[in-house]
Amino acid sequence: MRVAMFTDAMRKLGCCIKACKPVRIGLAVLAVVLVVAFTGWYKLCREESQTGLSSPEEWFKYGSIGAERTEGIPYWIWRIMPKMFPEYLPGPGGYAALGLPWEQGKDVPVGFSVKTVGVPRVAFNCAFCHTARYRTDPAGRPTLVPAGPSHTVNAQGYARFIAAAANDARFEGATMMAEIGKVYELPWLDKLIYRYVLIPGTKQALIKYGQSFGWTEEKPDWGPGRIDPFNPIKFGVLKMGTDDTIGNSDMPPLWHMKARAKHALHWDGLNTDFHEVAVSSAIGDGMTYKTMDEDGLERIEEWLQDVPAPQSPYGIDKPAGSPYRIDAARAADGKQVFEGQCAGCHAADGKRTGTVIPVTETGTDRHRVDMWTAEAAKRYNAYQKEYNWGFKHFQDVDGYVAVLLDGIWLRGPYLHNGSVPSLRDLLKPPAERPAVFYRGYDLLDPVNVGFVSQGDVAAKTGFRFDTGVAGNGNGGHLYGTELPEEQKAALLEYLKTL
Ligand code: HEC
Ligand code: HEC
Repeated sequence: MRVAMFTDAMRKLGCCIKACKPVRIGLAVLAVVLVVAFTGWYKLCREESQTGLSSPEEWFKYGSIGAERTEGIPYWIWRIMPKMFPEYLPGPGGYAALGLPWEQGKDVPVGFSVKTVGVPRVAFNCAFCHTARYRTDPAGRPTLVPAGPSHTVNAQGYARFIAAAANDARFEGATMMAEIGKVYELPWLDKLIYRYVLIPGTKQALIKYGQSFGWTEEKPDWGPGRIDPFNPIKFGVLKMGTDDTIGNSDMPPLWHMKARAKHALHWDGLNTDFHEVAVSSAIGDGMTYKTMDEDGLERIEEWLQDVPAPQSPYGIDKPAGSPYRIDAARAADGKQVFEGQCAGCHAADGKRTGTVIPVTETGTDRHRVDMWTAEAAKRYNAYQKEYNWGFKHFQDVDGYVAVLLDGIWLRGPYLHNGSVPSLRDLLKPPAERPAVFYRGYDLLDPVNVGFVSQGDVAAKTGFRFDTGVAGNGNGGHLYGTELPEEQKAALLEYLKTL
C-alpha cells in the first residue's frame, strides 16, 4: 500500500517537473549549486589518509600530526616559494639553507608531511625539530637520527621566510601560476582553484601567521636548533598578552622516553605527563583539538617509548690514531669520576635524576624558567576542558630538570639554552667557556665533544651565538669544573660512550 502511494506521488512529481518550467529551472540551478559545492568541498576540504608510510619511523619523519587543515601550505605554492623568493632565505640552496635534514629522492625534507586536504598540503611535524643531523667527515653525507635533537634547523628562518614571501607583491595568482607552470602542468580545474582560491587564501593566512610571530622581532634571535616554544602558547593559545620574557631553548632528544617515564618533562619540568606533552607539542605546531590525528600521534608516542639513543661513533674498535677511538682504561676511570660527581643527578638510578633542581642551585641562565608562570600553567590546565584529554599536569617550577645523558655526544651545544658548545667547555669554569661561538654546523668535534663551533666553515654555516645576549648566559652548572685535568679527560672519555 505504502509503495503504491509513494510511486503515485513520484509520478505526480515527475509530471509537475515536466509541466512546470520554473521548477525545471530551479532544479537545474540546484544541480549546478550542488556540483559547485561538491567540487569546492572536494578540492578544498576533502581529507585523504596518507599512504606509503610503512614503518613507525617513516611515520615520525613524514606523517601528519593534523596541522594541514590549519597551517598546511598547498604543495605547489610551498614548492615554488624558494625559487621565487630566494632573497628571504638565509642562504643559497632553497629550503636546505634552513638546515633541514633531507633524504635523497624525497619531495620534502624530514619533518614535513604532505597530506591531501582538498589538495596536497605541506605542514611540519615533530621530526622538524626532533631529528638530529651529523657528520664525522666534512666531505661525507650527513647521518640523520630521527628522535634526536636538531641543532641545525632554523625554525625562525622558516617562519620569517614564509611571512616575507607572503608579503611580497609577487605572491599573487598570475605570477605564481606562471612559476608553477614551469615545473608542473596542473589540471585545468586545479589551475583555477590555485589561482583564484588557494594562492590568495594562503597569502592572507601566511601574512597572519607572520603577524602572530611579530613579538619575536623584539627578542633575541633563536638561531638554529632553538625555539621559544612556550611564549607562542602564552601569547596565542592562552591569550595572556605579550610580555618581555625570553624562553629560547634547545631541542631535546625524544628517544627512549620509557626511561624518562617518571621524569619531569621539558627543560624546566613544566609538565610530568608524556601524553600531555605530546598533545601540547602538536598544539604548538598548529594542530587543534578538532583536527588532531589521535591515531597518528599515538603511533608516534609508542615509537618514542622504545627507540634507542643512536650508537656512539666513538668506540674502542676504532683504528689507532682515529679521534673517535676510545681508550678503554681511561673511560673506565671516567666512569668512576661520573659515579662520584654526576650520577646522583644524571644516572638512570640517580636520586635526583629527572627531578627539577632549583635554578639557585645550578646557577644556569634563568630566562627560560622565568618565562613560564603559575598563571600560564593554570590557564593551560583549563584549556578546552570539554575534551576528555584536557590537561591536568602543567605546573610552574623554579629550576631545570637533571636529564639523562644518553647519546650526549649528539646533543651539543649543551644546557637548556645551548650556550656551551662542547662537553670539554662544560667542564671548565664559566669564565673560560667560549663567550662567542657558531652553532648550526653538523660536523662532529671529536676533540672537544659536540659540534665544530669555531673556524671559517662553522662561521659560514652557523649562527653567531653570543653568550652576552639575554637568555644566552653560559654560567652555572659548575659540577666537575674543579677536577684535576686527568680526571676531566677521563670523564670526557666516558661521556663519549653514553
Ligand atoms: C618547532 C620545533 C618543535 C617541534 C615541531 C616539536 N617540538 Fe618537541 N620540543 C621542542 C623544544 C625546543 C623542546 C624543549 C622546550 C622547553 O622545554 O623549553 C621540546 C620538548 C619536547 C618534549 C619533552 C622532552 C623531555 O625529555 O623533556 C617532548 C616529549 C616533545 N617535545 C615531543 C614533541 C612531539 C610529540 C612533537 C610533535 C607533535 C614535537 N615535540 C614537536 C621543539 C619542538
Ligand atoms: C645537582 C645535580 C647535578 C649534578 C651533580 C650534575 N648535573 Fe649536569 N645537569 C643538571 C641540571 C639541572 C642540568 C640542566 C641545566 C640547564 O640546562 O640549565 C644539567 C645539564 C647537564 C648537561 C647538558 C645536557 C644537555 O642535553 O644539554 C650535561 C652534559 C651535564 N649536565 C653533565 C654533567 C656532568 C658530567 C656532571 C658531573 C661532573 C654533572 N652534570 C653533574 C644537574 C646536575
